[in-house]
Amino acid sequence: MRNVTIAGAMFTMAAGMAHAQQVDLEGGILPYEDEAAVALGASIYEDNCASCHGAELEGQPNWQDPGPNGRRPAPPHDATGHTWHHPDSQLFLITKFGIEALVGGDYKSDMPGFKEVLNDQEILDVLAFIKSTWPDRVIETHNKINADQ
Ligand code: HEC
Repeated sequence: MRNVTIAGAMFTMAAGMAHAQQVDLEGGILPYEDEAAVALGASIYEDNCASCHGAELEGQPNWQDPGPNGRRPAPPHDATGHTWHHPDSQLFLITKFGIEALVGGDYKSDMPGFKEVLNDQEILDVLAFIKSTWPDRVIETHNKINADQ
């Protein structure tokens, strides 16, 4: 349950950050309705995420099966993937620290952490861009997942 505790602590921190900027926290901490943040997020996505997750957020081919190296391919970030199954706090931690650091043990993952590359606001912006592309019903479900945290 260590991961859950870390996620909780980070969520509190990120929520505090967003609060300080007078962001409406209903539905989570991602500024997905803020056009400027989403536009910045789109360019951050293109530069840092598209090479693996796809220019159209489509993920890698056969992403549900392990690749030749035994690791999982990059899943889509559109509504066909499972990015929206995770609350904001987990998406933030995955992007900041990478999946190996979060899962721990011997788990090997090709999802890098971006803590040396992107600051916290840039991470929120890129995730906001991803969320802004989802259909309304997926956004609503994701807002509920955040509220149930
Ligand atoms: C070098 C390739 C690569 C790059 C670049 C990359 N990712 Fe990933 N990402 C992956 C892989 C592979 C996975 C699945 C890893 C696993 O499950 O072990 C993943 C998984 C994720 C997940 C979890 C999704 C889920 O449904 O569980 C999130 C969130 C994510 N990436 C966000 C990002 C963001 C945001 C960026 C850009 C800032 C990014 N990734 C850049 C390879 C990459």
